[in-house]
Amino acid sequence: MQTTLESRMQSLSFYHTIEVMPGVWTKGWPAVVPIVDMVKNHLRSLTLAGKRVLDVGCRDGAFSFEAERLGADEVIAFDNDLTPGVTEFLVEQLNSKVRIDHLNLFDLKPDTYGYFDVVIFPGVLYHLRYPFWALKLIRDVITTDGVLLLETAFLVDDSPRSMLFCPTGEESPYEPTSCTFFNKKGLLDTLRSLGFTIEQFTSLHPDAVASTDPDAPPVIDRCAIIARLESPEDGDNVRRYWEGRVHDNPIPRWDGSR
Ligand SMILES: C[S@@+](CC[C@H](N)C(=O)[O-])C[C@H]1O[C@@H](n2cnc3c(N)ncnc32)[C@H](O)[C@@H]1O
Repeated sequence: MQTTLESRMQSLSFYHTIEVMPGVWTKGWPAVVPIVDMVKNHLRSLTLAGKRVLDVGCRDGAFSFEAERLGADEVIAFDNDLTPGVTEFLVEQLNSKVRIDHLNLFDLKPDTYGYFDVVIFPGVLYHLRYPFWALKLIRDVITTDGVLLLETAFLVDDSPRSMLFCPTGEESPYEPTSCTFFNKKGLLDTLRSLGFTIEQFTSLHPDAVASTDPDAPPVIDRCAIIARLESPEDGDNVRRYWEGRVHDNPIPRWDGSR
């Protein structure tokens, strides 16, 4: 039985290292194990029993299966590049009720799946060229008082300013699809501007420091953030303006007129 399982697994490729039966694990990417563990630790700190959970950019579904194991009521996961490892093997092998869909995050709307108590969004933000809009779309499907568990690569710097490092092509510190590296202040300010309060910020390498040499490569670390949504409504004019909806409730002009 174990040999059949192992030969089936060898015909598939995996990103996450997932235990499919006692002592048998998928052959995931070793380099991402510490990052996945950091996210799982944060996930375990949340109360998931009875909750609706969404996993954005789920890949092999490691966080979805963990959320289900932790008692989540319903788990929906999506990715725009699903692999047979998850759709044709893991869900069945783990006897899981997680729903795995093919979906582009930029098509996510509240009426796609409704609202969620917890959204898990790891390992994707730094790949996105439209990061603010992606976070806004995610914010829009979280219930008031719901939680975003975000993990991303970020720029380690000494700047007191909110910054976004947005390299293209060969200038990316990872590879060309990795194009969005906020610094810590930029990331936290962006989340706050969307109505979140930050409950936890953890970096993978807390000792990482920015280089003082301007010609040195940028220092990139990974962080996990727990952020709670206080106000899902676009309650202020500035946010409406950012979304091009200025006429919904116009900001007074410099002379006080509308
Ligand atoms: C680096 S992997 C991270 C996988 C997993 N979330 C983790 O943290 O271990 C990035 C995943 O995001 C998915 N992805 C990237 N852009 C996406 C988009 N616009 N919509 C949905 N998924 C996306 C990719 O297909 C890939 O599976």
